[in-house]
Amino acid sequence: MLEQVHEGASLTVAIQSAPVTLRPAVQSITFQALRRGFWVHEVLNQYLQKTPPGLTKYLLWAAIALIPEKDREPMYTTHTLVNEAVNATYLDKNMSYAKGLVNAILRRILRSPDIYKDISEDDNPSYPAWWLEKLKRSYPSEYQEIIRCSREKPPLIIRLNQRQLNTPEKIQSYHESLRAAEIGFVPLTTVANRQLVNTLHITKPVPVNQIPGFFDGSCSVQDAGAQLAAHLLAPSPKSRVLDACAAPGGKSAHLLELFDIQLDALEIDPLRAKRIEENFSRLSLSGGRVLVGDASDPKAWHKGELYDAILADVPCSASGIVRRHPDITYLRQEADIKNLQITQRKILTALWALLKPGGKLLYVTCSVFPEEGELQARWWLNSVSDAVRLDAPGQLLPSMDHDGFFYALFEKSKTH
Ligand SMILES: C[S@@+](CC[C@H](N)C(=O)[O-])C[C@H]1O[C@@H](n2cnc3c(N)ncnc32)[C@H](O)[C@@H]1O
Repeated sequence: MLEQVHEGASLTVAIQSAPVTLRPAVQSITFQALRRGFWVHEVLNQYLQKTPPGLTKYLLWAAIALIPEKDREPMYTTHTLVNEAVNATYLDKNMSYAKGLVNAILRRILRSPDIYKDISEDDNPSYPAWWLEKLKRSYPSEYQEIIRCSREKPPLIIRLNQRQLNTPEKIQSYHESLRAAEIGFVPLTTVANRQLVNTLHITKPVPVNQIPGFFDGSCSVQDAGAQLAAHLLAPSPKSRVLDACAAPGGKSAHLLELFDIQLDALEIDPLRAKRIEENFSRLSLSGGRVLVGDASDPKAWHKGELYDAILADVPCSASGIVRRHPDITYLRQEADIKNLQITQRKILTALWALLKPGGKLLYVTCSVFPEEGELQARWWLNSVSDAVRLDAPGQLLPSMDHDGFFYALFEKSKTH
């Protein structure tokens, strides 16, 4: 996995090549290795004269990343860690020469009392220099907290499906089923001072298949920051709504759970569009129609009436969700940000033409870069004369409760 990500593949794609039963373990180790990758490289530079070639390098990368973090519970005992790393050298003939090396280097590092002091993880976060520079420039007092958050395991937040759990008794009984399954939770009622309903923070994350009622549609996994979208757009009953970049359908489904609307969920990628269908069907939601098409080119898919409300959850750098996708900091190039900004502007321009006068458009990214957030919102207000900016949270920086998002809400003037 590490080799594939290093060569430019996304982890979501690469992980498909792992046997299904091993995927959770492979993912957990790969995530840890990516989250600590730059620190591991510094450690290797200092403890080895020459980085070993091929798979041995990646084996050492993974093993060193599993060394306990400063002041944290170890994932594995040091004995297991060294043994398993050495055993792994037998799995590929190109690594068999490295048995002694892997054993010696891991033992040396583990014996070194000053490792965390000499090679600080704070000084070696897993970000390229341009990204760090951007964070420091945009958030001089918050950037260290952003980096710290990206090293943490993300919170598991669920949203109860209020079409199914539609009485206080049913919600209570769902809470009971979580307790019976020994899944701890805390209701989360606000994010960025905005109200959330039926949002639970699962205190010790469990795989989705262990969440009671998940496959029957009782709930969905959705970050608390993402749950703001439906509440902010708040479409009127019977209105026509477009979710323009919809897969896998988390925000579309939330809209259908909360409001009686006619929703078009548009997605450019046909395979991802299927995920929206699956989600609607798992949650037994009606009122939604899935369309495959390009939001920046509506001629191909839009016929008929304009929309009362549009959700534009545009493609972005995903710099606000690094802890959920730690491969992003390895894959993203600086030039991507400019290209994404151009794409976002094209999409916003095309969607505005589909909005009724008096209608609302919610612009969303899961980025922390102002180029994709606040600067885009200001650019939009300067570009058109019929947009009014309404109250919305703007930039949400990642925290222990939620991921990083940007929200700007616009209304299209009626008289123009
Ligand atoms: C940030 S994700 C959307 C997440 C989704 N709103 C949710 O809450 O589940 C962006 C999605 O937009 C899709 N996309 C990218 N460019 C697009 C375009 N030009 N038109 C429509 N969809 C696009 C991507 O394939 C991706 O599925």
